[in-house]
Amino acid sequence: MCGITAFRGTTAAATRARTALERLEYRGYDSAGIAARRPDGTTLHERTVRGVAALAAAVGPAETDATTAAVGHTRWATHGAVTAQNAHPIEDCGGRVFVVHNGIVENAEALRTELRAAGHRFATEVDSEVIAHLIEQALRPGVDLGDALVAARDRLEGSWAVVVLDARSGEIAGTAHASPLICAETGDGVYLASDVGAVVGEVAAFRVLEDDDVVEVGGAGPRWHRHDHSTRPRGLWPVPRTALLGSTGRHDDHMGNEIDEQPAVARRVVDALSPGIADGRLWKGLGLPPLDGVDRVCVVGCGTSLHAGQAIAGVFERLAALPTRALVASEAVHDLWEPRTLVIAISQSGETADVLRALDRLPARRGPVLALTNSTSSSLARRSDAVIDCLAGPEVGVAATKTFVAQVLTGVCVALSGVCASGRADAARFDADLRALVAAPEALRAAVEEWREPSAALAAEFATASGFLFLGRGSGLVYAAEGALKLKELSYRWAEHQPAGELKHGPLALVDAGTPVFVVDNGDPRLDVDIAEVTARGGRIVRIGERVLTVGGSAVHLPRSGPSWGPLDGVVPLQMFARELALRLGRNVDKPRNLAKSVTVS
Ligand code: M6R
Repeated sequence: MCGITAFRGTTAAATRARTALERLEYRGYDSAGIAARRPDGTTLHERTVRGVAALAAAVGPAETDATTAAVGHTRWATHGAVTAQNAHPIEDCGGRVFVVHNGIVENAEALRTELRAAGHRFATEVDSEVIAHLIEQALRPGVDLGDALVAARDRLEGSWAVVVLDARSGEIAGTAHASPLICAETGDGVYLASDVGAVVGEVAAFRVLEDDDVVEVGGAGPRWHRHDHSTRPRGLWPVPRTALLGSTGRHDDHMGNEIDEQPAVARRVVDALSPGIADGRLWKGLGLPPLDGVDRVCVVGCGTSLHAGQAIAGVFERLAALPTRALVASEAVHDLWEPRTLVIAISQSGETADVLRALDRLPARRGPVLALTNSTSSSLARRSDAVIDCLAGPEVGVAATKTFVAQVLTGVCVALSGVCASGRADAARFDADLRALVAAPEALRAAVEEWREPSAALAAEFATASGFLFLGRGSGLVYAAEGALKLKELSYRWAEHQPAGELKHGPLALVDAGTPVFVVDNGDPRLDVDIAEVTARGGRIVRIGERVLTVGGSAVHLPRSGPSWGPLDGVVPLQMFARELALRLGRNVDKPRNLAKSVTVS
C-alpha cells in the first residue's frame, strides 16, 4: 500500500503532486519520489528514503512550479529493499515513461524474464518496474498513452493502481484493479490520487475509478474509458468531512490528540445514533433484515477493526443470544461462509485489501453485508449493501485509537437497534446496556484524565522490560488484545494477550520477577485467582478497570458487571501506556516502522 498522486494542469504540477503526497504519507513512508515534465521537455526525477518533506528540500519551488505534468509516490515496501533506487516513480529504459504503482504484480518474475529477453534493462528490485517496461514496449508511434497502458495492464496479474507520465508528451494516464484510484478536476487541472485525502481543500467532489477503468489526462481534461466500454465519467462523490486533516492539539504527535479526542467522538456517535435505538429506526433505516431472518452474525476485519467487531459481536451474543463469528479477513480464504449470515465488515479506511478480498469470497446466495467505516466513499462502502459512518473524523496516527472507540460505539448502537427491532432484547440487560452507552463519553473522559500521569509513570517503570502480557476474560479479552497490539505496534517490544484462564496452561512460564502483566478487569471474579497466580511468581500486575472500596482500612475489590461490549474505557490507559513507552524509547508514534495506515495489499 502506497500513496499515488498525479497532476496535469497549467502550472506547478510537481508542486501540486508533492503537496498532495504529503497528505498520503500515512499510506506508507519507506521512500518517496516525484517525476515531472519541464516546459523545455526535460524531466525532473527525484527520489529519497527520507520522506516527502525531503523531496521539497531537494527540489525547490521555482523548479517544481514550472512543471505542467507530474506523478508522485510514497512507498510501503513489498518487493525490494528500502532504497532510493527502488523508490517510485520508476522509469523505462529510455527515460520517457515514469510509473507509480500501488499493489502487487504477482507475475512480475515471469514478465521480468520475458522483458529482459526482449532487451529491457532493469534498474530496480521492485515488481512495479515491469509495468514501466511493458508500457515502453507498447508505446509505439500511433499508439496513445491510454492504449499503451491498457496493453500493459492486460499482461498483469495481481492488484494495481497505476499512473504513468509520458515525459515526451506530458500526458498522464491511470488505471486501477483491486486498488483505489480517484480522479478530481480543479479549475486549472486534473488530479489522480490514491484517495480523496490527497486533494482535500482543492476540490469539492471527485470520481472513483472502478476496476479496469482507464483515465487519460491530456490537454483537454480527463478522458474516461470505462471497463463497460462507456466513455462517460463515473459519478461524482462529495469530499467527505473525514478527509480533512486533524491537528495535533496540545501534543507533538497526532496520536496523543486522537486519544484525547475520544470522549468527544463518543459523544458525537451516541448523540447521533442513540435516538434510533429503542424503536429500531437505526437498524431499519439501514435496510437490514430483522434478526430473526439470520442465523448468525459474522464480523470481519483486521487488527484493531477486528477487535472492534469482536466487541460489537458481544451485543448480539449476550443481549440477543445470537451466535457470532469473528473472521480474520486475511484468513477468510480458508473459511466457509455459512448461509443466512449477516456480515459486518469493519474497516476505518474502507480500503483494506484483506477485507475486500474476504468479501469477494461470499457465495452468491448470501446474507446482507453492512460496512462499518470511517470513509463512506471507500471501496468497502461501495461494495456493501448498507453503510454506517463511524463518525470518528480524520485519524492520522497509524495506530488506531479514536476510530476504535467510534467503531465500537457505532456498531453497538446498530446492534442494540437491531435487537430492539427484532424484539429479542432481554429487558434488564438492555436497560443496563443503554445506560452504559449513554455514560460511555463520560467514562472515556474520566479515563483520559485519570490515566495521563499514571501511564507516563508506568512507561518509566517498564522502560527496560522486554516483554509484556495482557490478560482478560470474556468481554474484557478483546481489550487485552487491543492493548497488546498497540504496544507491539508503537514500542516494538514483544507483547502477548491471553485469556487469563489459559495462563496456567503454558504462558505462566513467561512470568518472572517484575514481568509486566496488564489485566483488563471486566468484573469477572475469577480474575482475582489469575492475578494471584501471577503475583505469586513475582509478576507486576497492572489492573485496568478495577473498582476498589476501602472497608475498615483494607481494600475490597468490587465486582462490576460491564456492558455487553465490555469495558471500552479500559482501552484508554492501554493506548496511553503504549504511546508513553514508545515516546520514551524514541519511537515515532504517528508512523511506526514497517507499517502504514491504509493496508491496500493482501
Ligand atoms: O483501515 P482498517 O481499519 O481496515 O485497518 C485495519 C488494520 O490494519 C488496523 O486496524 C491496524 O491494526 C492498526 N494500525 C492498529 O493500530
